[in-house]
Amino acid sequence: AAAVRFEAESAPATCAGVVESNHAGYSGSGFCNGDNTVGAAAQFTVTGSEAGTATIAIRYANGATAGRAADVVVNGAVAHPGVAFEPTGAWSTWSTKTLTVPVNAGANTIRVSPTTAAGLANIDYLDF
Ligand code: GCU
Ligand code: CA
Repeated sequence: AAAVRFEAESAPATCAGVVESNHAGYSGSGFCNGDNTVGAAAQFTVTGSEAGTATIAIRYANGATAGRAADVVVNGAVAHPGVAFEPTGAWSTWSTKTLTVPVNAGANTIRVSPTTAAGLANIDYLDF
């Protein structure tokens, strides 16, 4: 099925930080600028049609010079530890990280949770 886009700036997503729109190129009305602290996550709630695995794409920008590592946590379990979210060159340059994750039928939470005090890259959306 075609991917469904879940914007980080609007429910059912949550952003442990502030929703901003000061760096161009985002989808929707803005992006999640997470607090620069461990665990300040962007969280998405998606609906699986059946149990199994699914491909997700997370769009992000990282204008810093180092990666912004984050765990990708699905339904409370770490599916991908320390995903790099490498520098994109500018806060207005966006890139997409594609991952395969386990899913349940029905509601699933997908949490992008930074593992360092640098916090998250800016997160634009998650396609599921
Ligand atoms: C800058 C930038 C933010 C970014 C932040 C960070 O303040 O404008 O969009 O989130 O750096 O380093 O996390
Ligand atoms: Ca930030």
